[in-house]
Amino acid sequence: MKTLFSGVQPSGIPTIGNYIGAYKQFVELQDQYDSYFCIVDQHAITVPQDRLKLRENTRKLAAIYLASGLDPEKITLFIQSEVSAHAKAAWMLQCISYIGELERMTQFKDKARKQNQRDGISVGLLTYPPLMAGDILLYNADVVPVGDDQTQHIEYTRNVAERFNAKYNDIFTLPQIKLPEVGGRIMSLNDPTKKMSKSDDNQKSFITLLDDPNQAAKKIRSAVTDSDTVIKYDKENKPGISNLLSIYSSLTDKKVSDLEQQYEGLSYGEFKKDLGEVVKEFLIEFQDKYNYYLNSDKLDEILDEGRDKASFKADKMIEKMERALGLGRKR
Ligand code: TYM
Repeated sequence: MKTLFSGVQPSGIPTIGNYIGAYKQFVELQDQYDSYFCIVDQHAITVPQDRLKLRENTRKLAAIYLASGLDPEKITLFIQSEVSAHAKAAWMLQCISYIGELERMTQFKDKARKQNQRDGISVGLLTYPPLMAGDILLYNADVVPVGDDQTQHIEYTRNVAERFNAKYNDIFTLPQIKLPEVGGRIMSLNDPTKKMSKSDDNQKSFITLLDDPNQAAKKIRSAVTDSDTVIKYDKENKPGISNLLSIYSSLTDKKVSDLEQQYEGLSYGEFKKDLGEVVKEFLIEFQDKYNYYLNSDKLDEILDEGRDKASFKADKMIEKMERALGLGRKR
């Protein structure tokens, strides 16, 4: 069986963009792969975090992974900082990465711009990609399901793996990115030219998975569209309505072309009202499952088991990496 790896940061509550770009794919793929899902708390501290909030969000994120429909019997779910191999791998990969290639990452450039105004730019923000590459390479992952904002990081992961294989020892599998068919980049509700992000200052621009369902429906109804009236997917000219069509299609598994037909001749208002109801129903069902896992003793058991299983596999790869680099004594 081939291996899958993916991660989500506990830097806030995930949005429906994260759900559509990541979690939905995870659930669809869990039967086909030996799947490792990680709560990447070490990535989260590349920007300042409140320690109590980070712990709380880490736990919530575990319940969110499970509420999405992942089966704890089939998958491995764990917290990055609890598997020490990740930090070790990150250090080794940093030593074969170039400052220039890391400075070229668009996520670094975006976050650095934001951070610089507030607290200065941490070195961790720059070396974020080697930590992420380590996550993936430790498990010899064949596929990495993500939203399209992670494309550059996966390309870097392949490059650094290839470099290591060629220079030291051929130990890493080159991972393939897996983007969702619809919704690889869900856009902001009030500015559909920008990605939907949980760290956006404007609360109206995103819907989190734990938002009040009625408030979420309201956010959809007041989402920015255009002055035209036709409900048609056209990303260039109608980014707002195209984004809402993607959300609708992904949450109902209806094709975008079928939705266009269904709403032919109807107004944006009617379309948004219906989508608001779809989102509301989705969140009610999701939050039911979320509350169950958050309040269940099972959550810690699942995370303990996940940590042990992940450590077992990752430690073997660390040994191979250290051997290839000549670290420590001969074993
Ligand atoms: P993060 O925590 O920002 O986002 C988690 C996942 O959600 C996807 N995503 C989106 N998809 C569609 N539309 C959006 N608006 C949207 N916003 C976010 C992201 O692409 C991602 O799949 N660096 C990663 C975490 C990470 C990781 C890894 C991922 C660390 N190690 C190893 C894969 C493999 C990140 O910051 O994701």
